[in-house]
Amino acid sequence: MKILSVVGARPQFVKLAPIAHAMAEAGVEHVIVHTGQHYDHAMSDSFFEELGIPAPDENLTVGSGTHGRQTGAMLAGMDEVLERHRPDGVLVYGDTNSTLAGTLSAVKMHVPLAHLEAGLRSFNRRMPEEHNRVLTDHAADLCLAPTEVAMAHLAAEGITDRAVLVGDVMTDVLHQVRDRVADLEPSLPVDTTQPYRVATLHRADNTDDEQQLRTILDNLASLDVPTLLLAHPRLRAKAAEFGLDLSAGSVVAADPLPYPQLVRAVMGSAGVITDSGGLQKEAFLLRVPCTTVRTETEWVETVELGWNVLVTDPATLARDVDRPQPAPTEATPYGDGHAATRVVQELQRWRERG
Ligand code: UD1
Repeated sequence: MKILSVVGARPQFVKLAPIAHAMAEAGVEHVIVHTGQHYDHAMSDSFFEELGIPAPDENLTVGSGTHGRQTGAMLAGMDEVLERHRPDGVLVYGDTNSTLAGTLSAVKMHVPLAHLEAGLRSFNRRMPEEHNRVLTDHAADLCLAPTEVAMAHLAAEGITDRAVLVGDVMTDVLHQVRDRVADLEPSLPVDTTQPYRVATLHRADNTDDEQQLRTILDNLASLDVPTLLLAHPRLRAKAAEFGLDLSAGSVVAADPLPYPQLVRAVMGSAGVITDSGGLQKEAFLLRVPCTTVRTETEWVETVELGWNVLVTDPATLARDVDRPQPAPTEATPYGDGHAATRVVQELQRWRERG
């Protein structure tokens, strides 16, 4: 069996890591296509190096652009790649523009398509990720869902016989990396012997509106303990454009960290403030309270279990962060850390069925 994975953005490299390892263990021929959506070392190569992922077989080097241009460039590049490799199936990950491009190219070229992290919904049609994941689920021949909630969303949209619950592969990676870095001293530009928090911001809704960004940064600056703000390139560019200082008050701005260092930083922190999907879940798995600067989340279990709070109005962010520690929980809504093995087994069954 030959499976072709299409990835392009930071969270997809994290998901690819356990899949690439499980494919190798199962003797599956695995072609990795990098669309080039993320290209800075800290946003791309660092993940391949730190997570032991084989170098991509193909790189479409599309770079940044408007949604249409970026997705279109990937789609154009994929025709040739699929013709060259002729895989038995294409595997797409998550909800980025790279996911949608991989989806459309597979469908157009009549290659069977599997979607990893199927069934997540924010029900916010303003988000490009919501279009990407809905379209992908409806185009896919196999929907690999991370949670019961995701399975229920797929069922509500009439996708039942193509859906299977496999668990969350990001949990696989997190468990492995957590154990690897537990004894390391964190090396961060904040005093890690004192309480600190970790923050990330990259969603257009937060970064591209001057007033929204100013309010969020003012709230972060006013917090009682230092906040290490790991700045995505888009955040840096927008702050510069609006003349906003990322390192005001208690905020210490720094570049994005390699994945193991990020996990270590979160493990040692008093809390996370983010608009990332993956980081909400990683904070929960590490039992670090999370405050999410979004009005909804796909990872509803983190909120229901009390470890994540959504900030509906950025003006209340500092107040929302300052709250009592949540009740301990043993719940494992994201699976047992062995999802990737199940994914590969399901892919094998699927292709055997033809
Ligand atoms: C993308 C995904 C988002 C995911 C995020 C993870 C889409 C629609 N969005 O958002 O779902 O959560 O990745 O990080 O696919 N840039 C660089 N260097 C890079 C990459 C980006 O400077 O290596 C800058 C460029 O100015 C670019 C901007 O960041 O225009 C946004 O990058 P893009 O890939 O379009 O979207 P993300 O915000 O990263």
